[in-house]
Amino acid sequence: MLTREENETLCRVGPGTLMGALMREYWIPAALSSELAAPDSDPLRIMLLGEQLIAFRDTNGKVGLLQNNCPHRGASLFFGRNEELDPGLRCVYHGWKFAADGTCTDMPNEPAESDFKHKVKAVAYPTQERNGIIWAYMGARQSPPPLPSLEGNMLPDGEWQVTAIQRECNWFQALEGDIDTSHFSFLHAGSMDVSTQQPGTFSYYMLADRAPRYSVVDTDFGTMYGAYRDTDDGRRYWRVANFLFPFWTMPPQGLLGHKVTARGWVPMDDTHTMFYMAGPKFRRLPPPDAERSASLNRANEGTAPAGPWNRMVPNSTDWFGRFRLTANASNDYMIDREKQRHNSGMDDFTGIQGIHLQDQAITESEGPLYDRSSEHLASSDMMIIRVRRRLLMAAHALADQGLIPPGVDDPDVMGARAGGVFLPQDADWLEATEQLRRGFVKHPELDPRVTGPLV
Ligand code: FES
Ligand SMILES: [Fe+2]
Repeated sequence: MLTREENETLCRVGPGTLMGALMREYWIPAALSSELAAPDSDPLRIMLLGEQLIAFRDTNGKVGLLQNNCPHRGASLFFGRNEELDPGLRCVYHGWKFAADGTCTDMPNEPAESDFKHKVKAVAYPTQERNGIIWAYMGARQSPPPLPSLEGNMLPDGEWQVTAIQRECNWFQALEGDIDTSHFSFLHAGSMDVSTQQPGTFSYYMLADRAPRYSVVDTDFGTMYGAYRDTDDGRRYWRVANFLFPFWTMPPQGLLGHKVTARGWVPMDDTHTMFYMAGPKFRRLPPPDAERSASLNRANEGTAPAGPWNRMVPNSTDWFGRFRLTANASNDYMIDREKQRHNSGMDDFTGIQGIHLQDQAITESEGPLYDRSSEHLASSDMMIIRVRRRLLMAAHALADQGLIPPGVDDPDVMGARAGGVFLPQDADWLEATEQLRRGFVKHPELDPRVTGPLV
């Protein structure tokens, strides 16, 4: 449970808030590169940390991210002209023109001898692009820190994939679903019987024991948990997952040592979140699980063909018009009560189709910004409790002592991995997984078939 005040501090990220200040220390995904597909393409409305921004790709291919209101008299730069062969965005009210870095390069309604244009600058945030993500730095430093070394966003050309899906609730509420391992056996697999899974796989033990125990530790990138279940052959199945500052998760699905996907819960404002998933194109499980795993993976990423769980509404130019699912609160996420009653197939516990949509429905159902002062936390919520504390402590330490939060100046600590592993029952899980948790290392000795199709 959090007090109302703690909850407000944790959730609110606009200018002048404690958590907003913490997030502004980091590089933040602002958009997909594909949203600004070519030089001089249409300007794009971006809502980020409660700020209205206009993104555009100039003639040279550089992405500008300017405050929406023109510094002259506040007209929206969304209506600006991104003029061909002439880098910059021209406000259509009086023709002032701004380069990607905010410099005013033309002020045609002032006398030619005026030097006023040298005294005016649009608020502009630095950007960088890497593997399909346009990153923004919204902090106060003159020279921004390096990008975080998130392995899922650093894969070789042709091997990576990035997905964005909007969620209509507060960012931390959405993130909590990713660091809460025990819900998987219910929300996503509540209708599945252990007899449907191959004995000895992760999937089997997930269903054989639905009440794992936990170990939670703070790390240099954030917080990590190991959830464990004893197997019937004297081993222990560990699910290791990460929270990385300020809003990244690495859930425990997949195989520790192989899994590199990073999931970002980026606040658009206090009640809208843009989920970014950066990782390899597919989970490459060999037959017989290949088809099932690929389809689960695509559903999870929102890229599977034809299904209510992943159909997208065409993007509009609205502040909240990007990457919305057709299944949403207004149609009860297309819940199928017959399937729910029947309760025999993969999605039948909820009657809502697909892992991503199940998560989306249930976290949005808590309300736009859940008041945590009346919740009842249990032992299965250990990770959530620790991550909240870690974030609140870091936000206060930054505000009170100027303490720079984890990973800002040391981006390599973000090169971590998550996933599942079998260990001897008496093994120290931190010691035994040290190599497997380290990013940018290949582990050809690992057999991905051990996961089974569910995880
Ligand atoms: S308001 Fe933009 S040029 Fe006047
Ligand atoms: Fe989930």
